[in-house]
Amino acid sequence: MGLAFLRCRPRCVLIVVALVVVIFVTATTVHPKLRHIARVNYNYYVGDAGPWRTGLSSQDGPPRYTALREWEANLPQHNLSLPFPEGKTGRYVKFANQARVLGWNNCFNEVLMNAHLAYVSGRSYVFQDYVWTREHYQWPAETWLNVNPRTPLNAIVSGPVAGGPFESDDPAPRAISEDWFDTVCPLWSRTYINVHDVKRALVDAPGTEVLATWQKLLRDSPDRCIEVTHSKSESFPQTFDLSLFGSPRVLTLWDSFSQSPISRLLDASPIVRAAVDRNAYLFLPRGPRPPHPAPRSPFQRMLAFHLRRGDYEGHCRGLTYINAVFYSWNMFPHLPDRFVSEPDAPGKDARFLERCWPDQAGVLRKAADARRDYMAHAAAQGMQDATLDVMHLLTNEKSAWIDGLKHALEQDGWSISTSMDLVLDVEQTDVSMAVDMEIARRAAVFVGNGWSSFTSNIVYQRLVDKRDPITIRFS
Ligand SMILES: *[C@@H]1O[C@H](CO)[C@@H](O)[C@H](O)[C@H]1NC(C)=O
Repeated sequence: MGLAFLRCRPRCVLIVVALVVVIFVTATTVHPKLRHIARVNYNYYVGDAGPWRTGLSSQDGPPRYTALREWEANLPQHNLSLPFPEGKTGRYVKFANQARVLGWNNCFNEVLMNAHLAYVSGRSYVFQDYVWTREHYQWPAETWLNVNPRTPLNAIVSGPVAGGPFESDDPAPRAISEDWFDTVCPLWSRTYINVHDVKRALVDAPGTEVLATWQKLLRDSPDRCIEVTHSKSESFPQTFDLSLFGSPRVLTLWDSFSQSPISRLLDASPIVRAAVDRNAYLFLPRGPRPPHPAPRSPFQRMLAFHLRRGDYEGHCRGLTYINAVFYSWNMFPHLPDRFVSEPDAPGKDARFLERCWPDQAGVLRKAADARRDYMAHAAAQGMQDATLDVMHLLTNEKSAWIDGLKHALEQDGWSISTSMDLVLDVEQTDVSMAVDMEIARRAAVFVGNGWSSFTSNIVYQRLVDKRDPITIRFS
């Protein structure tokens, strides 16, 4: 038999090859994950001509960010000849343990805090693409360009965190891209620190101690290239993790973090700012002219209301069950509308849900209270033209419920726009969460959801902008 096999070699080889192809094709089509990978790669390399294609994004798929990617690759700090602390003698830190495949706002906290840590350690921060969770990505899976869809950081934010310049008198090394890190810090030149080895001693430590411990480690190390890694088994491998951001321990970091150029020079990306501008007509008040002087800028008379709906109802019930406290910067005791946990009090579940998942009456009441308090504050400050009559609803709700709410709010004197009204191009659509956040950052008054990281990152930016606490409210 064996000999016969050898004698018919050319034909047998053909048969074997054909068999392998059949098995490969079958396996790829039957297994959903393999099928997905095959389709994505086919779309990318064959359908869309892969990285060789230079045209603009296709009509109904995600954006390619061709121009932005090229700009990121050619940042001026991507240059080996630059003097210390940049260039080939520079000092770098890459956080390979950064959260991926998680909601943007859970990643955003951590990205900012890691960049601040790199800054206080005198090292260049290695910025990375944002990697989406499959459920949050807005484009149909057949059109994806990557198995794990990603968005360049500079499409969402700008500033030193994403490679932008520091102030002119600040000698800090600028942040570099992940790709450039591979060039300036080849694998053999890297020192690896396993996050767990450092974190073990920091369980329940205040934020300042977590920062100081890492800062000392990164600053004192003579090694040029440091990569912070984690083991696959760890459930919270981040340097600054959820258990820190979800506890008052994080608040001790405020002084250093809020004064950092990472915070002070943080801005929306040009893509996001352009999206806000092109939709500004939606925010103009539509009522009769007020009988008193009022600001011309719609943002100065706007209340932005974060109304997280959809999957949040189940999420709120879960939070009630575990008696969750407010998230991160939402916990500041000097902000109005604090939430005081009352684990065993009768009726506490209903009170909790009222705030986490407000109904129409709750939204109307909160908007009216926020307006009354803001106007009283403005009067006390002598702001003669203070007016609050425009409302932007930051919401993922598309149902008739929102129409009923809009109608009721209009009866109450508000001119309403919602996230769903914004007209966005393909790149702006990809980063629409940041567009809403920028509107809320600029609004005169913001009402958020205290359990939400989306809200806490808006609160963070408003506090950095030195907004009065009376303009930072929670449902
Ligand atoms: C790289 O940096 C060196 C030293 O500052 C400078 O002379 C050179 O023009 C830079 N190269 C590029 C491509 O910008």
